[in-house]
Formats: sequence, structure tokens, C-alpha cells
Amino acid sequence: MKISIVGTGYVGLVTGTCFADTGVNVTCVDIDEKKINNLKKGIVPIYEPGLETMIKNNVEKGRLHFSTSLKESLDQAEVIFIAVGTPPGEDGSADLSYVLAVASEIGRHMTQSIVVVTKSTVPIGTSKKVRAAVKAELDKRNADIPFYVASNPEFLKEGNAIDDFLKPDRIVVGTDSEDAEKVIRRLYKPFLLNNHPILFMDIPSAELTKYAANSMLATKISFMNDIANLCELVGADVNMVRKGIGSDSRIGNKFIYPGIGYGGSCFPKDVKAIIRTANSYNYPLRLLEAVENVNEDQKKIMAAKVKNYFNNDIKGKTIALWGLSFKPNTDDMREAPSKVIIKELVEAGAKIKAYDPVAMDEAKKEVEDSITYGQDPYDVLIDADALLLLTEWPEFRIPNYKVMSKLMNHKVVFDGRNIYDMNEMNENGFDYFGIGRSQKEVK
Ligand code: UDX
Repeated sequence: MKISIVGTGYVGLVTGTCFADTGVNVTCVDIDEKKINNLKKGIVPIYEPGLETMIKNNVEKGRLHFSTSLKESLDQAEVIFIAVGTPPGEDGSADLSYVLAVASEIGRHMTQSIVVVTKSTVPIGTSKKVRAAVKAELDKRNADIPFYVASNPEFLKEGNAIDDFLKPDRIVVGTDSEDAEKVIRRLYKPFLLNNHPILFMDIPSAELTKYAANSMLATKISFMNDIANLCELVGADVNMVRKGIGSDSRIGNKFIYPGIGYGGSCFPKDVKAIIRTANSYNYPLRLLEAVENVNEDQKKIMAAKVKNYFNNDIKGKTIALWGLSFKPNTDDMREAPSKVIIKELVEAGAKIKAYDPVAMDEAKKEVEDSITYGQDPYDVLIDADALLLLTEWPEFRIPNYKVMSKLMNHKVVFDGRNIYDMNEMNENGFDYFGIGRSQKEVK
């Protein structure tokens, strides 16, 4: 079987590589020549554990190819995935010009029947536009070649994307025909071995599933952040409340960890997008509007705690940050809460010294020039007046209290992910503030 994937971003690369790994002949296409040349040499533009090795292996085996020519990649391809970017336009809505440009190009060059699958996260109704764009080009050529469209949203978590692809909880596919269903079922068969379902449905349902899934997860997080803040006020510990509710199988214990707000490339964008879609049907999604507002406020909570601790005067104070990326195992800084926290602290006159195992290069592109970066976690603690844990990278989990005590000017830790034991911190002489953990236990 031969397929092509257009767009060598995070979704396209992972998808293409994982299909190639099952023996499918895959061509990954991108207009960015430099990127394609690098990929041919094995240089991968993103940080995703396991991806580089898998790419090299499949390239060596001759199953994974990289090209700048969509036209050539269409030759004998049965399926083409559109996985190009949909950046937010000026009004915040997804810019579909890349997706539709690819659809038009497919229509211009296709010579045999093909299934055109939208993989990029796109507004509900996009598949119709994809179909129209392909058809318009075929009509211009007077070509009567049958083609199908499908929507196949991805549910990949950054940092765990390969595993998520290889062992999906489910695969969701919206199709317009049984023929398309047959081809896609064959392609995904190797991933269905452990009773993971492939769910075929109509196209609008598949498109909405993606938004509903991400909004539900974002809702869980904002709900827990709200409860965590209430815990602090009433003297409760959110860790206990979390376990207490999570043991109810109807609620479940996943994705109910409070923190400094959700970030990344999906949740913030998708929650906004579904709100916008619903508004266009005059049906405001009041719950999700609240989810978003809670998240915006939650990103500011750490800075507020720091200011409160220092009696609203942090001018000239040195604040150390551990972690910058929106979550561990990625260098992604998109919508990272750390950016909001840094802004708030810098505006209040603090000096920031940050360390992140992989995201510092990305951070340098996006964050205030005034902040400085350290070589390792302890480097940034020299003369620090406070430490803020912002991303729960494994290497921050067991801190060396002795070294910390020696280096820091003032012993206080603000833990944005609740990874530390409050009592242990206190026993080692540190003031400790988590999220939603009763203040009465703080020294
Ligand atoms: C998410 C979805 O999980 C994935 O299915 C979808 O396809 C893309 O969006 P991702 O953005 O990579 O994946 O990250 P995820 O691990 O889901 O975390 C998102 C954010 O929620 C992070 O900022 C994380 O710190 C936060 N989070 C997650 C919490 O604050 N609490 C939790 O309990 C879980």
C-alpha cells in the first residue's frame, strides 16, 4: 500500500513514520525544502522521544520517503493525509488556507482515485470545503476521477505521541462512503490488535469528536483548578480530594491534577474554536467559556502567591524557575503558563533565572530578553529568593535539599505541579506552597 502525508510537523511526521513502520510505503511531503533535506539526512525538526530512531530505521528500510513534490507523491497513492498547520488567523479562527491549498493541489495533479483525509485539527465543516476545493480543480481539468474525503482527527499527546499512535484508545474516522471506509480500515488494521476500536461515523461527528474530547479534558483540569483554589480557602488538601473523587470509577483518576493551567498547542486553541463555532450557531457554550476563564486566571496564580509571600514587593528579588515547557518531554512553549508567570514577575520588578532540560532554546525565541538561563537546575538557585517549579520534568522530582539550602538566599518553594512532599520540604527548612494544599501546614 502506498500513501502520502502532507505536512511534516509534529502530527504529519509521527503519522507517516508510524504507518511506514507497519510496512506501508509512505511519502512525507512539505514545501519547506530545508526541512525535507534535513529529514532525508535524519535531522528531525521536533523533539519527540523515539521519533528520530524510528524515522532513520524506516528510511533505511526504504519505506519512508521525504519529498517537496506533492504531485510525485500522488503517484499510486491510495490515501493522502492533510496534516498541515492551521494557525490562528487575525480574529483567532483557524486559517485554512494551507489545508485548502493542499486540497486544490491534489485536485490539480491526481490521476487515480484517492481518499483525501484531513488530519489537521480543523473547524467543523472543513471536509466539505476540502471536497469542494478538490472538485473545483478536477472540473477545471475536465477530469472525471472519483475521490473520497474523510476526517481522521489525531489524539496524540506530545512527548508520548508514538505510543499514542501505536496503541490508540480509539481511532475516529468520519467518511463519506464505504469505499473510503474499506481503505482506511486496511491501513489502520495493524493498530487494532489489542481490541482498540476504530469508530467510523459521519464526517461532522468525527470533526466534532476532536473538539469535544479536548474540551472535556480541559474542563476536568479547570474544574480541578477551581476546586484546588477552594481547598486553600477552606483548609483542605486537593491531593486528598483528588484521590477521594478519582476513586469513583464514574469520575476516574486521570486528568484531574490541578496545576498552573493547561497550555500547549491543542487545549487552548480547541476550546476557543468550539466556543466560536457554537457562537456562530447562536448557541453560546457557557460551561466552556468558564473553563477558559478559569484557565486564564490559573496561569496568574503562582505569580500572585509569590507577590503575596513577599508582601507585594518583589522588586529586585531573584526568582528561580524550574521548567518552562507547557509540560514535560517536550520543548513546546506554545501557550505555556510559564510565559504568563514570567511576564507577571518581570513586570513586578523581579529578576528571573530559568532552567529547562530541553525548552530553553524555544523559550529564548518567545520570552522576555531580560531573563537569564542556567546550565543546570542548581545553577539558577545561586542567590535565589524563591524557587518556582513550573514543569514536572523527572529530573526535578528529587531535589537535593542540602545543595538548595546552601545556594538559595531565601528558602521558599512554590510548586506549580504539586510534585513535592510538603512535610519533607518543611522538615528541610523550606517554606512550601503548592496548588490547593492547605496553608495551615506551611511553616
Ligand atoms: C492534548 C490531548 O491530550 C491530546 O489527546 C490531543 O490530541 C492534543 O492535546 P497535549 O497538548 O500534548 O495533548 O498535552 P496533555 O498531556 O494532554 O496536557 C495538556 C495540558 O494539560 C498541559 O499543560 C498539562 O500540564 C495540563 N494538565 C494535564 C493538567 O494541568 N492536569 C492534568 O491532570 C492533566
